Amino acid sequence: MPVITNINDLKRIYERRTPRMFYDYCESGSWTEQTFRENTSDFDKLYLRQRVAIDMAGRSTATQMIGQDVSMPVALAPVGLTGMQNADGEIKAARAAEKFGVPFTLSTMSICSIEDVAENTEKPFWMQVYTLKDDDFMQRLFDRAKAANCSAAVITVDLQLLGQRHKDLKNGLSAPPKLTVKSVANMMTKVQWGLGMLGTKRRFFGNIVGHAKGVEDASSLTTWTSEAFDQSLDWDRIRAFRKMWDGPLIVFAVNLIFIYCGSFGVMQRFEIIFYSLNIKSRNHYRVGVHRTRELRVVYV
Ligand SMILES: Cc1cc2nc3c(=O)[nH]c(=O)nc-3n(C[C@H](O)[C@H](O)[C@H](O)COP(=O)(O)O)c2cc1C
Repeated sequence: MPVITNINDLKRIYERRTPRMFYDYCESGSWTEQTFRENTSDFDKLYLRQRVAIDMAGRSTATQMIGQDVSMPVALAPVGLTGMQNADGEIKAARAAEKFGVPFTLSTMSICSIEDVAENTEKPFWMQVYTLKDDDFMQRLFDRAKAANCSAAVITVDLQLLGQRHKDLKNGLSAPPKLTVKSVANMMTKVQWGLGMLGTKRRFFGNIVGHAKGVEDASSLTTWTSEAFDQSLDWDRIRAFRKMWDGPLIVFAVNLIFIYCGSFGVMQRFEIIFYSLNIKSRNHYRVGVHRTRELRVVYV
């Protein structure tokens, strides 16, 4: 077992063990990849304030997020296709989060389904929900999340349009993976990954195949995905989702803000649990906030 001391050690092992198309999927962004780069470089600009001669015995990062006890104020963000990075990846990640005491967020585009993760974990997890046109599918997704005892719905509000991801196109990314001479040759070098994938039945999008109307296999899934996202998404639509899900609701956008809304319609509780480091985005978001009376955002 190699000695792992930091995230870069893990990244190197990950690159060695994972087929190229899935590694590239995680390690790239859309179009010019500006957001992808800045989501890392913004952290470099952040300094911790040094204080000295402070009693630090008994220190703790434990706190609460949306009323849940957490060991530190961090949640595992939703990442689609985790179960192709590693067999049953979502179950493994959810279990690791549970062990560490932080929330795990399951992506709509996960390989393991809501039910798979619920059956294999003890604590409630958060369910990320894409804003799709199909109301029946949306309602069922919320109902399934409720039946699985999910403790929050995380609504992603910045994916009305899919950005072009150059590497995914070149690699022919899909689940299960498209078998070309190049991809098979690459996968044959990833023995551990291959054995894991052979040992699991979870190789499709578990929340979608068999649940969305007319999606029974990979080819119908591709057509469904290309048409599924709701380009007319606005705050009225988010209010409609509020009626479908009465538990804690987190409105979520990469690089913007991460908030918890107690309720829509009547101003009740609003609690920010995380915001982007990107100051430009915060200002940008402020403009959006002023357009809606029910949302008031307090920066911390
Ligand atoms: C490979 C990959 C897959 C992602 N999949 C989803 C997803 O399915 N749903 C979602 O809401 N966000 C998704 N995201 C966005 C992440 O949850 C997260 O917001 C974003 O990566 C910014 O955080 P980071 O800088 O720590 O990567 C994905 C991000 C990556 C890199």
